[in-house]
Formats: sequence, C-alpha cells, structure tokens
Amino acid sequence: MIIYLESPRTFFLQGADSTYAMAVHPAGYLCHLHWGGKLHPDAALAELCRQEGLPFSPRQPLPGLGKVALDVLAYEYPTANTGDFLTPAVDVVHADGTRGLRLLYRGHRITPGKPLLPGLPATYVETDDEASTLEIDLQDTVSGIQVTLSYTVFAGRNVIARSARITNRGPLPCTVTRALSAALPFSGREFDFIHLPGAWARERWVERHPLHSGTQSICSRRGASSHQHNPFFALAATGADEANGEVYGFSLVYSGNHFGGAEVDQQFNTRAFMGIMPEGFAWKLAPTESFQTPEVVFAWSDAGLTGLSHQYHRLYRERLVRGYWRDRDRPILINNWEATYFDFTTEKLLKLAGAAKPLGIELFVLDDGWFGSRNSSDSSLGDWFPHSARLPDGLAPLAKSINEQGLLFGLWLEPEMVSPDSRLYRDHPDWCLHIAGRDRTEGRNQLVLDFSRPEVVEAIYERIADILKDAPISYVKWDMNRHLTEVASAGRRPERQGETAHRYMLGVYAFMERLVQAFPHVLFEGCAGGGGRYDPGILHYMPQVWCSDNSDAISRLRIQHGTSLVYPPCTMGAHVSDVPNHQIGRVTPLDTRGHVALAGQFGLEMDVTKSSPETLTGLTGLVELARQTRDLLRHGDHYRLVSPFSGNHAAWMLVSPGGDEALVVFVLELAEPNRVLPRLRLRGLDSAARYRCIHGPEGEWFGDQLMCIGLSVPLKHDFASLAWHLRKVSGPSPT
Ligand code: GLA
Repeated sequence: MIIYLESPRTFFLQGADSTYAMAVHPAGYLCHLHWGGKLHPDAALAELCRQEGLPFSPRQPLPGLGKVALDVLAYEYPTANTGDFLTPAVDVVHADGTRGLRLLYRGHRITPGKPLLPGLPATYVETDDEASTLEIDLQDTVSGIQVTLSYTVFAGRNVIARSARITNRGPLPCTVTRALSAALPFSGREFDFIHLPGAWARERWVERHPLHSGTQSICSRRGASSHQHNPFFALAATGADEANGEVYGFSLVYSGNHFGGAEVDQQFNTRAFMGIMPEGFAWKLAPTESFQTPEVVFAWSDAGLTGLSHQYHRLYRERLVRGYWRDRDRPILINNWEATYFDFTTEKLLKLAGAAKPLGIELFVLDDGWFGSRNSSDSSLGDWFPHSARLPDGLAPLAKSINEQGLLFGLWLEPEMVSPDSRLYRDHPDWCLHIAGRDRTEGRNQLVLDFSRPEVVEAIYERIADILKDAPISYVKWDMNRHLTEVASAGRRPERQGETAHRYMLGVYAFMERLVQAFPHVLFEGCAGGGGRYDPGILHYMPQVWCSDNSDAISRLRIQHGTSLVYPPCTMGAHVSDVPNHQIGRVTPLDTRGHVALAGQFGLEMDVTKSSPETLTGLTGLVELARQTRDLLRHGDHYRLVSPFSGNHAAWMLVSPGGDEALVVFVLELAEPNRVLPRLRLRGLDSAARYRCIHGPEGEWFGDQLMCIGLSVPLKHDFASLAWHLRKVSGPSPT
C-alpha cells in the first residue's frame, strides 16, 4: 500500500482508487505531489516539487542547488518565520524567545497496520493487513525540534489518516504555540468550500461557496467541537454535486477547540489545513518531551459528495466506533425528557415505561433530574446520588422494575459539570475551570469541572462507576450543556496554563476510555445540548450521538442532511416527539415524525401515557418499521436524494450492501396548490433486479425503472411524507 522510491526520494500511498504522493525536495523539504486519482508510482513526479521562484520570494542559498524559493514549495507541514508566508501548521517559541523552524527530512519508517494514538481517539485496524502506516521524521537543525508526520492508508478505502508528533530533541525547553494535525496544498483554487455551521437546535446546516483569495476557515474556541462549526469541511471541485466530481474531505477526530480552512495564495493555489485551534494554545516541551496532535481523516472521492460520505460512513462505523455495540442493532428507546422534564415521580416513570412497552420499545431512558436535589437546572450537578424525594430507595429498584416490565434501563449523566448549588462545589470550589479574581461565568447555571486535573477526573469517575455498578444500567446519555470560559486550572503552573483546554479534552477522553473499558456492555450516547459535540472524537467512545435538541421533523430534515455528510446514519439519535413540537410549536403528522426519525437510531421522546389510541397504533407501526430496517441503518449506504436546502421537499434512502433491500423516505414541507411533485429517482439499486414495496405505497418495479424514472409522489398536504421499504424479489418481471 505504501511504495518508497529511493532516487529521487518519493512516497506513494495507494488507496482503493486513489494515490497520495510526496517527495523529498533536494533541499530536504517534504513536498506534496498529489492526492486524488490513482497513479503509477514514478520517481519522475518528484520534479513537481522543484518550482520557480517569484518576485518577493525569499530564497535559501544551498550548495550545488542554487537558491530554493521558499514561498512556492508545496509543503506537507509548513512552518512559520523561515520563508513561507501562508498559514503554518506548526509554530514554536524557543527558549530565547525567537520563533522559527526549518523542517528537513531525516528518515522514515513504513509499518503494517496502524499504531494507536496514546490518549486520543483515532481510527484503528483490527488486523495489520487492513492498513499501512508511514512515519516521516523532519527536523529543525538549529533547535533540534523534530516533527514526525504519520500517514495511514487503508486497504480498500480512499482515506488517509494524518497526525503529527512534535518532539523536543534539543537541549533547551520550548513552547509549541501551534500544532495543526496536517496541511495539504492544492494546485489551483477551483473548489467550493463546504462546511457545517449551526447553532443550538440548528446544527450542521450545509453551506457552500467558491473559494476566494485569502483564508476561509471554521473554528471553535468553545472548548467543545460545538454546535457552531462541526470539525469538518470539504473542498469540492467547482461543479461537483452529489453524484459527480472530485471532492476532498477533512474531518478532525477531536472534540475540543479546532481550526480548519483553506487559504488561496497570490498564485491562486490553495492550502488546506486542520487541527487544534492555535489561539490560547501554548504547550511547553522540556527536552525529550513530545506533543501528539489529534488525527485528521482526509477522504477523497470522484463520485461527488455521496462518494465522499460513503468513505466516511464506512470508515467511521467500521473502524472509528468500537466495542460491543458497534456491530449490534441498538435498542429502540423512549426518553422521558420531553414527556416529563423535571416533573416526575417513580410512579409516573413506571407508567410511562408501561405504556411504551406494548409499542415495541426496548429501552427506557431516565433523563435529567434523578440526582441530588435537582428539581430544575439550578442545582445539583456533581452530586451524583439518587434524588432523595424521587428515588428514596435509590436507582436499583426503579431500574429493576423497568427491567421487570421487559425494558432495559438507561440513565442521563453530565459528568463534566458542577452546579454552584451543589455539595461538590461547596466542598471543592477550586475544582472548576476558573481564574482567581474573575467572575465565574455560568451557562445554564453551571460551571465546568476542571478535567485537566487527574484528581478531579478520578473523583468523578469513582462516583459514576459506583452508579453504574449499583443498578442494572444498560445505557448512558452523556451530556455536556455549556461551553468553557475562564479556561485556567488551579492545578497548573502559570507557564503551563496554555495547555488547559487540550488537557481538559485529554481528561475527558481518559474518563471515557476508562468507562467504556469497565462497562463494555453499556450503550453510550453522546450529547451536548443536542448535537454540540457530534464529532469523530466522541464516536470513538460512544457509537451514537443525540443529533439535536430540536426534535421537530421539518427542522430535522436540514440537521440530519448536514450531519450525514460525514457521520453514518447509525450514529445519529433521532426521536419522535409530541405535537405541537416543544422547540418550535410546529404540528406535523405522526407518520412524518416517524419517517424522519427512521434516518437514525429510532426512539420516542413523548408522553405516550397521554396519546390517543390512533397515535398509539401509529407509533406501534413506526416502531415495527424501525425494527425491520435497523439492519439497513447499520450497514446500508446512505443516499441524499433531494436536499432540504434546495426546495420545499427532501428525500433520502438507505440501500443494503448487496442492493437487496432499501428504505426510501420523502418529506414535503409546504404544499402548493395544483402542484404535481416530481418523480423521485432512486440510487444505488441493482438495476436488473425487481423490487417490491413491503411497507408503504404498493408496487413492484425494476431497479433501473426506479433509478431512471423514479417513484411517483402523490403528496398534497403540508408536512406529509411517504416511506417505501423495498425488497428484491425473484420471479417473473412486472408487466
Ligand atoms: C440537554 C439535552 C437534552 C436533555 C437536557 C436535560 O439539553 O440535550 O436532551 O437531556 O439536557 O437537562
């Protein structure tokens, strides 16, 4: 998978249909040659990294080589203050206060498989033949600082996982002030920048605009990957669409502050980059110490955005998500949050579970309000003891009663937080992130525990582990309901305060790792005020994430469409809630709410003790459909058929790997009078096979008919929807 040619020194990383190529410039710089369609390994390509200088181009005199023009090289890992003027990947302040690195090739290793990234989430392999990893050492001769770039190419995929490790091999300490995971140069700027901005209850909307000169970027300074900018962007060749054209993706496996983007230079060439947000970041490296960046996953497709999404979906569900639940159907759940909020008793919960069971529900989740004296969001985070009035006998009797009703029991937790009104805070007021002498900014009446301190992580871990040991808990919803402010730690010396935000993430990951190892059968669902931390970092520990606090079916069309650009549908929590919708007051038909929730891990978030008999019948049918199609959700290829951003309707489908089965959903937003909707052309089917609709509008069609002509969509009313569950049939062709 990785080919190295000695003269001139050239590397070829061969993916399924793609090649990533680099060469060592005669002056020692590691230069990028190509990432895209597959190439024959050919040393002659190394010539591409010798480029002409430009006016105002700094030059480095080199014996026998003349002068190397330094701001035109296609660096794999650009540095600052030594001749390149674009966005650097790395910057270091040396012991004498000066900045600058000149990173030159020192050596490389090619190993089968993929090593773990210590303390960080990452993609992985199960056997060494699944991937091959190239590590290239670059070194700054003046300071001794070494950067080891890591590239993993996966067999049968078009993805490259990259990261960097910065090691101080010099005699003096230094401070790393920027350590991006990777940079990638492109010739030209004929790309659109696609990214997923949003807000609470409006996560991951798709924005697309042509690249312009200068920098276009996404970032988070919130201490979490955030609702505002998902740590993902793509560069799509101008004109590329869902099905056609070259698209490059950049997805950071990290849940904290991030920074990614593209800079178009004076020659209209582009440098893409991604990694930890440099603002506020300063990491001290004593001699021999190292800093490991998170991993960024590059994906490439020449089959448009769908092709790109398929690369990410397959890799992330197979080799990012881990554990017992990776390859299992997840239980269909009911969550009591929108049914009761904080207003519940044990009796009410048992009634809710009792009403949910006959609908086919398999898991009952007790959300916020079960601990301390938490009757509202004003208090008790950190006091992880059963609420004395609501659960006088503890959690175990409730969990057992739920189990006796034939349901698994799940629980909400928010381990990273503390309420000022809590025993924990009164006992340990210095355990939260704060700056002495400054106000402690609250969000949702809470402060953030200082998970950059191992003793804080340890104390909370012990408490949470006891809860999970004491009751039969099969599921945990791990929430995180505010962002980080006054990022500083009482446990850290002044010169190391710039490490706090990243050390916080390392503490969270250490906690999660310990928890998933100790409780391998618990299904964890990530959450951060809905989808505020829906990123590949979290997915390494938790196979699903509550996609958004907005449970309105029409809002969800955009949220789920954007999410699906990177994240597999099986990672997306999607629930049917009551109407009028609690977030925006919209009334939509039950079927539509159900059909939209079929795009992810299906559940209910409503008071079914108050539902009408017709609603209960409808819910039973929808739960059954979710059960019938959950295998498809886990393995199927997802196709975005009609974007909710482009008109007044949306459609998507899932197709099983062999094309034997498919689920198709169409949702109309606002109906128009006297308007016949266009036929819905499907994708990904076996064109020669015949399909029968086993749930939904009756019919039988050949795959080619469905893909070339399409299904008719006789919908006439606002927010109406249709779902077709198709199965391949054998027998005579339809007449
Ligand atoms: C967050 C979550 C919700 C719910 C509440 C409970 O907002 O996203 O689903 O759990 O917290 O307080």
